[in-house]
Amino acid sequence: MKCTIHASKQFVRGTVDPRLFGSFVEQLGRAVYGGVYEPDHGAADEEGFRSDVMDLVRELDVPVVRFPGGNYVSNFNWEDSIGPKENRPTRLDLAWKALDPNQFGLQEFMHWSKKVGTEPMMVINLGTRGLAEAKDLVEYCNHPGGSYLSDLRKSHGSEKPYDIKLWGLGNEMDGPWQVGHKSAEEYGRLACEVGKAIKLFDPSLELVACGSSNSSMPTFPEWEETVLDHTYEVVDYLSLHMYFRNEEKDIATFLACSASMDAFIDTVVHVCDYVKAKKRSKKTMYLCFDEWNVWFHSHEKDKQQTPWIVGPSLLEDVYTFEDALVVGCLLNSLLRHCDRVKIACIAQLVNTIAPIMTETGGKAWRQTIYWPFYYASKYGRGEVLESRVDVASYENKQYGTIPYADALVVHHPETGEIDLFVVNRHEHEMLSLELDLPGLGNSYMLVEHIVLEHENLYAVNDAMNPEEVMPKQVLHADTENLQIAPLTWNLLRFHR
Ligand code: AHR
Repeated sequence: MKCTIHASKQFVRGTVDPRLFGSFVEQLGRAVYGGVYEPDHGAADEEGFRSDVMDLVRELDVPVVRFPGGNYVSNFNWEDSIGPKENRPTRLDLAWKALDPNQFGLQEFMHWSKKVGTEPMMVINLGTRGLAEAKDLVEYCNHPGGSYLSDLRKSHGSEKPYDIKLWGLGNEMDGPWQVGHKSAEEYGRLACEVGKAIKLFDPSLELVACGSSNSSMPTFPEWEETVLDHTYEVVDYLSLHMYFRNEEKDIATFLACSASMDAFIDTVVHVCDYVKAKKRSKKTMYLCFDEWNVWFHSHEKDKQQTPWIVGPSLLEDVYTFEDALVVGCLLNSLLRHCDRVKIACIAQLVNTIAPIMTETGGKAWRQTIYWPFYYASKYGRGEVLESRVDVASYENKQYGTIPYADALVVHHPETGEIDLFVVNRHEHEMLSLELDLPGLGNSYMLVEHIVLEHENLYAVNDAMNPEEVMPKQVLHADTENLQIAPLTWNLLRFHR
């Protein structure tokens, strides 16, 4: 099947903010206890952080990590997680019915972030708590000293302020499952006042307001409109969340699901611009897609968990090869919207619906979805070019007309390199790739073609076989005639 990609460096869709390749560590399941933090593990460093996990996080190169939740945050007292560890209280985490020993708290997260080379996105509890606790948290973290809370931080061993730039104003506040769930009016007012106080402290801090938990919420998209009516001039980003599953057990439908991510983003952009027009505002609202991933394998197992223990095995999806293809399409969707989506967090990072998996006391390895994320994070930081992809499409009951190729072109102006991310959604046919890149010259040479392929859509990586699904180099005798195999994710790298 012929697939012609037309793109020109004169027509730039947007420049990718590296924070598009962010991730998320929630106090959930074994994400922290048994994942990031396991003092008894042979690979733990002097602070109890697993160095095998840190190596994989560094390799993945996530520029921002959202913390500490998620649903967890809506019942979290930040004051419980500071100071000498032996004085920290054990609390009940109502969101996940777990015991929270508060041994990996604020300071530990900040130290860990530094060690893995990431920036924090700190989420504030606007479920059970409000303005007073939020402004105190910002003072504790960011004020240099000379005030009660900044001096308290110093007394806890952190002389320098944490200097956290990015703050989330609550989590999924539209969701009835959220502890302290609110109406759009209630949340909008609260987020506005909290945001105002934070900006009084430091106007350069960036704030994310909660959008809808997904596009099927009955309150979507009125939620966005009402929240922005209250917060438009105070916040910098509106959040989106969306998870995907192979409900129909049908690969054609599953691979088409990125169309719903596209549609969700497009609608939220329209709502933002509508509120901008209503307010006669000059400011453009950007988006923070701070939870996205495939999530569905673990539901039955989750129900069998014993409640009120530390680090239960929750949401430990073992990702298949087909999930990796879908993650490739979702990354293309995010990149395609890089003009408005500036930050995104794959949910999550370790063990719970995550690209990195561990055994408590044992190994750490890369799940299948690690790979498309790794390459997008490595080669997706450039200019996404407007492109037209001429290829046949199929009709899908759920998502409409879907092209067989999901293709995206990234140009790196400083080196002139071009990277092409392509998923072939066709189950049987090769794509014969043709590139039409006017303005980019004809002197481009293919230097590398990396493919993720497997004959079994349900193949997984696990502790016994961590390299079952691995990227491979494809060698081309004839680079004029590039063939893309059916049901594969691909990265093609061109140099001048
Ligand atoms: O990422 C898992 C959960 O999904 C988060 O806690 C919540 O925000 C979302 O519903």
